[in-house]
Amino acid sequence: MKIVAINGSPRKNGNTAQVLEVVRQEVEAAGVEFQVFQPGARVHPCLACYHCLNTGSLRCVQTDDMVNDIIAACIEADGILLAAPVYHGGIAGNMKCVLDRLMLAAGCGVNQLHHKVGGALCTLRRSGGMETYQQLLGTMDAMEMVIVTSDYWGAVHGADPGEVQGDTEGMEVAAKLGRNMAWMVKVLAESKVPVPETHPRTMTNFIR
Ligand SMILES: Cc1cc2nc3c(=O)[nH]c(=O)nc-3n(C[C@H](O)[C@H](O)[C@H](O)COP(=O)(O)O)c2cc1C
Repeated sequence: MKIVAINGSPRKNGNTAQVLEVVRQEVEAAGVEFQVFQPGARVHPCLACYHCLNTGSLRCVQTDDMVNDIIAACIEADGILLAAPVYHGGIAGNMKCVLDRLMLAAGCGVNQLHHKVGGALCTLRRSGGMETYQQLLGTMDAMEMVIVTSDYWGAVHGADPGEVQGDTEGMEVAAKLGRNMAWMVKVLAESKVPVPETHPRTMTNFIR
């Protein structure tokens, strides 16, 4: 059993990384593996070439960043935790690039992410936490994932690296999210109830 986390911060030991270490402690204590991917700032945006969707390759044609590794790991994982800093009231741009490509390649055709456990966290200095948290959740609730929560919204406060350590309540929220995600991963793994089958949606738009 494994939970994969994506850290959308460009900063190596920044606040998002430190929040994820708190999550790691809970997840690993529950006997579930925890792997963090941090692709950094050099992530390409989606080209909208639709090659992944049209071919069902489950890979992006852009191969010189970490995104294909992330896609493969998320397909294998039992749970996915999306963690991003708030930039100007929303998901940090590089994280948005990762999510656009991950969801198109792995989720939008024959959905590889359905019924995986999902959770979200963001870090921020002051404002935009709710919007960003909701954006992260919204990415997953369009992928038929089983979204797990904590006992408050997933926004942990801090500006300079390390300041999140002072947000006691936020760190507790993150820890509980980790505990709850690990629990749900184990519940699903041990369940005798089969995962529902899924099939690609009939995609329409509003003009035809
Ligand atoms: C370009 C940029 C935009 C930011 N925008 C916001 C914002 O809108 N609201 C906020 O509260 N913090 C904002 N911040 C602060 C970061 O969210 C905060 O420092 C966060 O802890 C960074 O996480 P990290 O240390 O993992 O990189 C911004 C930081 C940067 C670099």
